[in-house]
Amino acid sequence: MIPLNEHLKLRQAEVDAALDRLTPPESTLPETIHKAMRYSLFAGGKRIRPVLCLDAAAAISDQNPGVFEAACSLEMIHTYSLIHDDLPALDNDDYRRGKPTNHKVFGEAMAILAGDSLLTLAFQTLTRASGLDATRKVALIEELSFASGTDEGMIGGQVIDIQSERLPPTADLLARIHRAKTGALLRASVRMGAVCGGADATQMDAISRYGEHIGLAFQIVDDILDVEESSEALGKTAGKDAAQGKITFPAVYGLETSRTMAADECAKAHAALEPFGDRAVRLHQIADLIVHRKS
Ligand code: IPE
Ligand code: IPE
Ligand code: MG
Ligand code: MG
Ligand code: MG
Repeated sequence: MIPLNEHLKLRQAEVDAALDRLTPPESTLPETIHKAMRYSLFAGGKRIRPVLCLDAAAAISDQNPGVFEAACSLEMIHTYSLIHDDLPALDNDDYRRGKPTNHKVFGEAMAILAGDSLLTLAFQTLTRASGLDATRKVALIEELSFASGTDEGMIGGQVIDIQSERLPPTADLLARIHRAKTGALLRASVRMGAVCGGADATQMDAISRYGEHIGLAFQIVDDILDVEESSEALGKTAGKDAAQGKITFPAVYGLETSRTMAADECAKAHAALEPFGDRAVRLHQIADLIVHRKS
């Protein structure tokens, strides 16, 4: 088996090729919107969500029709959420994925529309998933729309995140924000892979628990990195959470306890993979990577 870093490079190249195939070229009219969509889509994200989708599918079956469309739809939603997260009305960030943010390059109106269009393209992409029957396509659409939505999904989390700025950081608010704004899409990433792999109910349950634990670990680490790393290392502005009075793990628990809690979520993620045996080696490795990453 090749080392994880080589596996990730191969996966990232596969995802980039599929995204390129599934996104209109820059020359498609009106050109500006396609340039803006592609600018953020290909700015150099880690592709964690699509890789999780692909490796969750592979943990279940060698036959995974539609899995690249599912993986790309997740990255489209994620990229849209970042473009909007960075807007002046939200986190007001100038720097993302090592480059100026979308609105800094294309202006606010086009950045809003680029986010909207990636959201729309994500669902169009799922309708076009090759080799998948309609029942499974609807299951994927259900997963992605729930995870992106207002009721315990990404938008719901973003709403509470913004409304809670400068409020006293409580454990309850923190859990609600993180489960929704980040956890939901990471959970959906592995669940959508599992749908493509034809998971049974027991497998779906196990993969969901894995997704919930890595989802929480992911945002705990994002909050820690915001405190500890440089903007250069992160490719986005460091130290913004404290400056904006965000409710984060370090703000509620301090750095040491936050690190312990991330490790605890990681251990629970490993335990959830038990039913998959050796087929889940990559998912085990990715759980560790999420906790030990530096960007
Ligand atoms: C950043 O996500 C936003 C969060 C949900 C914490 P990533 O750390 O996955 O960002 P990219 O895709 O690699 O840029
Ligand atoms: C954003 O959380 C989560 C999204 C839904 C985009 P953050 O605001 O912490 O993400 P970064 O730190 O800007 O990447
Ligand atoms: Mg934010
Ligand atoms: Mg932000
Ligand atoms: Mg952050």
